[in-house]
Amino acid sequence: MPSRSLRPLALAGVLSLICAAGAAQAMGNKPQANDDEGIASRIQPVGRVVFADDATGTEAAGATAAAGADEAIAAAAGTDKPARPGDKVYNSTCSACHATGAAGAPMVGDKAAWQPRLAKGLDGLLKSAISGLNAMPPRGGSSATDLELARAIVYMANKSGGNLTEPAQ
Ligand code: HEC
Repeated sequence: MPSRSLRPLALAGVLSLICAAGAAQAMGNKPQANDDEGIASRIQPVGRVVFADDATGTEAAGATAAAGADEAIAAAAGTDKPARPGDKVYNSTCSACHATGAAGAPMVGDKAAWQPRLAKGLDGLLKSAISGLNAMPPRGGSSATDLELARAIVYMANKSGGNLTEPAQ
């Protein structure tokens, strides 16, 4: 029985909280004119979606949760996106074929498959990746930059018996 008799009380509590919040807002804010701007500011939504691209200052910080942190930082700084590390590029695109052997791709970790390819050096491998090679589409079908491709290749090759050095840029 007690839980039943408490229910109206709880409801009343919630209602009074809502009223209190409304009253606090009405009293707390400085008096506002009943002109369009005053009304608009009182009925404005509590949240606002901001896209990193047109965000400035604090709004860009707010966009961090929605966009990838990298993009938000780049947007706030007004720069292009920073180049992604090799493992990220690999995991986002290249792994579709190179982790599975799909389309006959040399699998990461398969040293025998990579040995003859490693002989081409990073430059040669990068060339293949940029322009595509047989069943591999240009850039592996990704929008990766040359630097990101090179990093992905170094990541893949070095897990497959290679000893390549990541280019600085
Ligand atoms: C659609 C499948 C597919 C995707 C996605 C893919 N590759 Fe490939 N890749 C292949 C195939 C197939 C080959 C072997 C081509 C051949 O030698 O005929 C290959 C070969 C390569 C080679 C060796 C090239 C050479 O000259 O021997 C490199 C380096 C390479 N891929 C890098 C990448 C990178 C980096 C990515 C991601 C950005 C990627 N690939 C994404 C299918 C793919």
